Amino acid sequence: MTASLSDSVSGSVSVSPSPWWRQAAVYQIYPRSFADSNGDGMGDLPGVTARMGYLSELGIDAIWLSPFYPSALADGGYDVDDYRNVDPRLGSLTDFDAMVAAAHAAGIRVIVDVVPNHSSNRHTWFKAALAAAPGSAERARYHFLDGLGNDGELPPSDWPSHFGGAAWTRVVEAAGPNAGSLGQWYLHLFATEQPDFNWDNPEVREDFHTTLRFWSDRGVDGFRIDVAHALVKDMSLPLRSKPDLEILVDDGSDPLFDRDAVHEVFEGWRSVLNEYDPPKAAVAEAWVPFTDRRLKYARPTELGQAFNFDLLQAPFLATEFRAIAQKCLSEAASSGASSTWVFSNHDVVRHPSRYGLPDGSTREDLEAWLLADGATPALDSARGLRRARAATLFMLGLPGSAYLYQGEELGLFEAAELPASVLQDPTWFRTLHKVKGRDGCRVPLPWSASEADFGFGGIPWLPQPEWFGEFAADAQAGVAGSTLEMYRAALKLRRELQAEESLEWLSSPESEVIHYRRPNGWEVITNFAAVPAVLPSGVDLSRVVLTSGTATEAADGAGSEQAGTIPPETTLWLAP
Ligand code: GLC
Repeated sequence: MTASLSDSVSGSVSVSPSPWWRQAAVYQIYPRSFADSNGDGMGDLPGVTARMGYLSELGIDAIWLSPFYPSALADGGYDVDDYRNVDPRLGSLTDFDAMVAAAHAAGIRVIVDVVPNHSSNRHTWFKAALAAAPGSAERARYHFLDGLGNDGELPPSDWPSHFGGAAWTRVVEAAGPNAGSLGQWYLHLFATEQPDFNWDNPEVREDFHTTLRFWSDRGVDGFRIDVAHALVKDMSLPLRSKPDLEILVDDGSDPLFDRDAVHEVFEGWRSVLNEYDPPKAAVAEAWVPFTDRRLKYARPTELGQAFNFDLLQAPFLATEFRAIAQKCLSEAASSGASSTWVFSNHDVVRHPSRYGLPDGSTREDLEAWLLADGATPALDSARGLRRARAATLFMLGLPGSAYLYQGEELGLFEAAELPASVLQDPTWFRTLHKVKGRDGCRVPLPWSASEADFGFGGIPWLPQPEWFGEFAADAQAGVAGSTLEMYRAALKLRRELQAEESLEWLSSPESEVIHYRRPNGWEVITNFAAVPAVLPSGVDLSRVVLTSGTATEAADGAGSEQAGTIPPETTLWLAP
């Protein structure tokens, strides 16, 4: 692997050619919300199989499925009862095999989600732990501790749960000398229904190897690793105080996150993934600061990739986008990984909404906007979508893997108006209704503008707003300038554009226009400003093969490339 880079205007980054995943476009499916084949209102695996033609036409290289395992859905399926089965509401293992076969026949690879930090409280092991006495081998697969205070009535530490409330729940003992009384506490960094595994226990480690082999043997091509940075914890007593879950100093000393020993786990996983030919791909979800430590997860000796959420968290500003892209590319090159890009997923407000809210909106502002049912402040939806489309084309031209979230190809906004009565995200309940949570990006997809339930297949488990009809796939298919057609065109052209993993910056780091060139001559130019920008000199507009300008804008002239200028908040792709 060779890499060279520089931060100068003409700096370049290059890495030698690669396995399939290094520059893949990966489409995330949230199975319950994708397509429903049996009319029960919940998306399922046969629904995915039935839509393989759509996915193929979209032009993606792989699908990543969020959990479809048996689950009480206390956290949308990230509370797993059985890692090696399919939730009967979503299908069966036979349906899974059929889906993989259909995907492979369409040239689409399949990535599944592994949730190793915690199981659900309905997992056989957790039920056995509750039935067993303190100190037993069954309890040692999780983190059970005596409480503090005179009578163990206080939790073992001040650690909070990610979803609000405490990270500890006290159990009534079923066995041992205190049977029938309140006893130990167990750790759950997420919901009460998600007890954390004890990764110091070899049985836990071995069981996840079995799970990786189980799905690999069924033909999956890769894995997305949930909360990868949290597995190994410092549980030495007394537990250290950590009243909030931010990592303040990311040097391996945090008791809960990004500890050095977690890398032994993933080295072990890499050995398992390399038992296959070709080796299975893996990507870490590790919300850690962007330092050399994040790159460790993505080393070839570990998972190969880690999500970079930096663009997702950045405001729509050229200077930010340029600096982040350069940093991600150069860091990836130095670690041998390929970079990843993400704007939306099932955990965040959809990016057309983020970009349509007033500039400078913080995470707290987004939460307040959701609580106001999306009514205040008013969303500038035209601007939000215009920027989202420009950002997407900026990103799809970069070297590395693009992770797309279902519905973004339709330009969907957050369904911020979901009424409280339908909310399901544990965040809403655990914060005592102070944070609305993530349901607004999980509303079942609109496939058809005219059919009942917009063609989803059954009365959706979360209600679709009226405006979803306008965004339905069949309302956009074949419509020039629609967001769906923009994604289709971009994903098709991207296969030509993605030759070597390198680029050359042609604009200066301070400019409001970012202009880069791939080694095979493709160029991408984004004007981040709210006003037209002068075209870089020497750029021949007859080479423009794709623009992010919307159909409406094109109709009234605002999106077309006026002589010598690039419209506001617009990306152009130029063929060699
Ligand atoms: C990850 C998932 C999120 C889930 C959490 C706990 O962050 O993306 O949806 O709630 O882990 O499993």
